[in-house]
Amino acid sequence: MSDQVRIVEVGPRDGLQNEKTPVTAEARIAFIENLIKAGLHTIEVGSFVSPKAIPQMVNSDQVLRAVNHHPDREFHVLVPNEKGYDGAKTAGAKVIAVFASASEGFSKANINCTVAESIERFVPVMERAKADGIKVRGYVSCVLGCPYDGEVKPSAVVAVTKKLWDLGCYEVSLGDTIGVGTPSKARQLLRAVAAEVPMQNLAMHFHDTYGQALANLYAGLEEGARVIDSAAGGLGGCPYAPGATGNVATEDVVYMLEGMGIATGVDMKQLVAATNGIAKLLGKSPVSRVASALNAKARN
Ligand code: HMG
Ligand code: MG
Repeated sequence: MSDQVRIVEVGPRDGLQNEKTPVTAEARIAFIENLIKAGLHTIEVGSFVSPKAIPQMVNSDQVLRAVNHHPDREFHVLVPNEKGYDGAKTAGAKVIAVFASASEGFSKANINCTVAESIERFVPVMERAKADGIKVRGYVSCVLGCPYDGEVKPSAVVAVTKKLWDLGCYEVSLGDTIGVGTPSKARQLLRAVAAEVPMQNLAMHFHDTYGQALANLYAGLEEGARVIDSAAGGLGGCPYAPGATGNVATEDVVYMLEGMGIATGVDMKQLVAATNGIAKLLGKSPVSRVASALNAKARN
């Protein structure tokens, strides 16, 4: 358990994409700069998707351009198709993420196509990214349940993950989009997927809707998974996953890992400051338990 864990901070994308309060590009850039100050190395900063689908992510080109000068950091953006790829490439993206679903219902709602069609769409994106020297991460949504189709079989997750891996994704992130998983299910899923794709190339992207995310991550760590997606303050969710709350909070993950003797390189004080800054803009308190506890302590 004492080896390194890589955190992928998804707050500026997954966190803000579902917020009703509009957040300007300038404020998103300031949030990302604060996350950088907190020591986060890998940050998902936006998406090149339809502005009708996700208006919150408009001007992601501006955001990426503004932060891309940090040479020692890695910035990711979401790309659903070739149009998105054009935008991401023009804005200087070095890492993009394509996203598929393990369930048909969510695929249709989220990206308006079947799972097979989404993979077809990714083929030219992957080819062009390879030729342009752009790294591609993959996402599989609804790995532990779907808001439309209900139960999702591990075999469906394995099949889609394997497809993204075979297409050339360097890492595939397994999304419990609606946060319904429990530790034994998360463990079984990781075991099943790791039989086809190396565990070191899998990431855990667990939303905390039912309060199970930290427990699920712990189970995954015991299985050998070492990449965790999290969002500062526990922000956000997905507009196509009704009721789904944010990703597991980065503060809560960092607190757990550091408590287990796993160094994260993250400065908790700076991280809570970043969270407080964006929470103030959104007009709500952070849902992160650690951020809330530290804020309460600071007030006393
Ligand atoms: P569509 O309507 O089927 O696409 O949407 P289309 O090709 O027919 O185009 C329709 C319009 O969208 C056209 O514009 C296109 O130009 C435009 P119009 O002629 O009507 O003015 N368009 C675009 N504009 C900007 N960027 C693009 C783009 N593509 C087409 N890339 C589409 C299909 C995929 C575009 C749409 O459904 C979409 O953008 N969906 C994105 C949904 C999304 O971002 N969801 C949230 C992220 S996924 C997530 O949160 C899960 C994750 O966190 C993991 C987890 O938790 O499980 C990753
Ligand atoms: Mg997500």
